[in-house]
Amino acid sequence: MKKKLFVFSAVFILSILCFSTSYAQTKVFKVQANQIKAEIQPTMWGIFFEDINMGADGGIYAELVKNRSFEFYTPLMGWTVSGKSVKEGDVLVLNRKEINTANPRYIQVNVNNADKGSISLTNEGFRGMGIKKGLRYDFSVMYRQKTAHLKLHLELVNPKGEIIGTGLLIPTETGSDWHKQAVSFNATATEQKAKLNIWFEGNGMIDLDMISLFPEDTWKRRPGGMRADMIQLLADMKPGFIRFPGGCIVEGRDLANRYQWKKTIGPIEQRQLIMNRWNTEFANKQTPDYFQTFGLGFFEYFQLAEDIGAEPLPILNAGMACQFNSAEVVALDELDPYVQDALDLIEFANGGVNTRWGKVRADMGHPKPFNLKMMGVGNENWGPQYLERLRIFTKAIKAKYPNIKLVNSSGTDPNGDRFDYLNTALRKMNADLIDEHYYRRPEWFLENANRYDNYPRNGSKIFAGEYAAQSDKTVSVNNKNNWKTAMSEAAFMTGLERNADVVSMASYAPLFAHVDGWQWTPDLIWVDNLRSYGTTDYQVQKLFSTNKGTQEVPILLDNKAVEGKDGFYACAALDKATNEIILKVVNTSAKAQNADFVIDGAKLKAKANITVLTNENLEQVNSFDNPSAVSPKIQEVDLRNQKLQFELKPYSLNVIRIKKA
Ligand code: AHR
Repeated sequence: MKKKLFVFSAVFILSILCFSTSYAQTKVFKVQANQIKAEIQPTMWGIFFEDINMGADGGIYAELVKNRSFEFYTPLMGWTVSGKSVKEGDVLVLNRKEINTANPRYIQVNVNNADKGSISLTNEGFRGMGIKKGLRYDFSVMYRQKTAHLKLHLELVNPKGEIIGTGLLIPTETGSDWHKQAVSFNATATEQKAKLNIWFEGNGMIDLDMISLFPEDTWKRRPGGMRADMIQLLADMKPGFIRFPGGCIVEGRDLANRYQWKKTIGPIEQRQLIMNRWNTEFANKQTPDYFQTFGLGFFEYFQLAEDIGAEPLPILNAGMACQFNSAEVVALDELDPYVQDALDLIEFANGGVNTRWGKVRADMGHPKPFNLKMMGVGNENWGPQYLERLRIFTKAIKAKYPNIKLVNSSGTDPNGDRFDYLNTALRKMNADLIDEHYYRRPEWFLENANRYDNYPRNGSKIFAGEYAAQSDKTVSVNNKNNWKTAMSEAAFMTGLERNADVVSMASYAPLFAHVDGWQWTPDLIWVDNLRSYGTTDYQVQKLFSTNKGTQEVPILLDNKAVEGKDGFYACAALDKATNEIILKVVNTSAKAQNADFVIDGAKLKAKANITVLTNENLEQVNSFDNPSAVSPKIQEVDLRNQKLQFELKPYSLNVIRIKKA
């Protein structure tokens, strides 16, 4: 009897276990495909470019010579003068400030019966120069000489001192004017850390400025253009917008150091460089040789936006320097030039070729308008000083350009007194878009996936302008772009898309970092002098952006929005263009879960296309050695009776596309 009872109990317990396991494992998600909740803006997922972490100079701007114009605060920074016959005064730094305020310095080189080894200038590049075997390199220089008796021998040299490319430039023009001359040559080897050596042959004196070297393989092969591999990663995201140029870069440490777009356009030798405000911001990540030469300026930003199909979103200084640094503000009665900059920028972007600034754009090679629709006034500014200035900007811009949408700052944090103060005031002002920033721990992202559920549905829209999960803490050098951070962002992003009637735009920050020149981590894309890879966070951003959809519809678990229950987060959309239903489902739990997706309100085709991004190790990162450690895998799954059955892997983002019949 005892034995029978034992067998019965064992079978009973086992069957309860089996039942409860399968019950626990099958989650039923219901999609109401005919109940449109909101239009998803084409701008929903975008990118934010700031020149931080050697993002521009030494990054996407493909110039290989550092300090080409001798305007760094140490004029020969990046350069070494050497040779057996170099005497004092053979290389002089001269200044013509009275006649050239933007680019006053140049060097004068005196050579006497020089040959190889007599006198040479070496440029170290931005932590070296990335050189590719067989590729053409375009050298150019501005020069001035009385007589033509000199030759410039160009050599690319690897760290062992071996020559991996040579060119010869013989300046031909003489007189008191400056001339530009160029020569191209091919590299014979690939090298991450090359240098450019220029040695002189002959007799005489020559003035040199704007010494430049570009690879041939720039984005769209534009001479003097951008690094193609980096831009391709952006283009692959199909971003809805690009916010530029910052960030704190816009504010500057003080007002003199602020970003002034008018100084970033026109001929590059007339663009006045400034110190990059990130150069010595962090004591433990010093980059004193970090400048903004503005070879990548506002024209190039607009052009980039156009190239990658993103709406341009320029951010302008609101008359306030960074409040973490000097907190310098321009007096209200002196704000006019700042406001005028904003008005002129709209004309530069959209004005006809007969307008003053439209003509400047046309002269730079783009007669067609850039079709600017929105603009930001201020970045992470706060307090009454911001509101006072913002009101003046808003009045002037809306009076002249009522259709331009304005993005306003809500400060540095997504909560707290500063945020509450601005949020209330901006909503009263009926701000078009309020820019919210969150650099927080992954847990915050999970807990706040419902942040926008209770936001007002009318009035100001939200731009989640800067966000990134911090594996350690904000501005910690230990922050990693691991799968835990990316997965938590994915969960949070389902909450953004689920609230597409409130949230119009969102972008991760910062975008780029150079392994040898960064100040801030985590970042979306890491590069060295030759390579680039997308982080786990990049893969998430790309999946959301390339699977956006056009209209949000409900997806429910136990009749509720999917925002954390049992570790699930989800959103659903229709895509009018492709006639598909797109589901994004994040399983943040350590358990695999069987899921049924029941789609009501639409007839479906029999196959679903599922892209899965997953890793069982939450610490997993992508890297140069393993750039695809966390990367999407695609599979096809059959539907039965309008129902998709699919196992959601532990720690996974699943993007499901089902065609409507
Ligand atoms: O993304 C890095 C910095 O973080 C941005 O410049 C600033 O807006 C924020 O504080």
